[in-house]
Amino acid sequence: MLQAATEWLQRPERISLGRSLTRRARAQSCSGLAQLRLYQNVLFVGPERHDELAHAMRLTCHGHDVIAINPRETASAKAFRRAGGTFIRARIEDLPPESCRFDLICENYPYPSGRHYVPPRPFALARLSLLKPGGKWILVTESPRYASLLKSVGDNDNEVRARFRATLSPLAIHEAPPSSYPRAETRFRLVFQRCR
Ligand SMILES: C[S@@+](CC[C@H](N)C(=O)[O-])C[C@H]1O[C@@H](n2cnc3c(N)ncnc32)[C@H](O)[C@@H]1O
Repeated sequence: MLQAATEWLQRPERISLGRSLTRRARAQSCSGLAQLRLYQNVLFVGPERHDELAHAMRLTCHGHDVIAINPRETASAKAFRRAGGTFIRARIEDLPPESCRFDLICENYPYPSGRHYVPPRPFALARLSLLKPGGKWILVTESPRYASLLKSVGDNDNEVRARFRATLSPLAIHEAPPSSYPRAETRFRLVFQRCR
């Protein structure tokens, strides 16, 4: 299903942030994915950019339950909300774990250092605690250090290792999502999947 959604997402003509639709109307207007009837709960963490929120809106348009969460609300986030998207102005840590179970959590370029830095274990647990069995957290970072620290939480922390599998891969810059934040040219994708 996620592959189908991803393929759909590659078709930029499908998105308009200017439309405001009910979930049913959204599903009807995007009949391709609606036919699949495999609705997923998807969380976008820290989205700011138009392309990230357009991605979130495309999934919403397909009938998925999509939430975008960020304590910072950009103009693109406002447009997403006006178009019927669910944007929560808060930190992911503010979501109650018992009420949120996601199939997919997407996150691009969290702060790898500086005053907003969160050490890898609490950072990872805040996200992993929200995944359904089988669910995935997909993170892209420019930081080799933060990528390997997070991977080592997946590999070495007994509590995490018992329930999640972590994979880390380098990305070419053209394969990674665009962002104005990274200073480095390196890109990594880290995927945590909940196994049980
Ligand atoms: C470096 S910026 C990246 C923004 C954007 N995703 C991009 O790719 O350009 C990190 C973003 O994460 C958000 N953020 C930081 N801590 C967060 C948290 N605990 N929960 C949700 N979002 C958070 C920030 O407000 C900021 O918008």
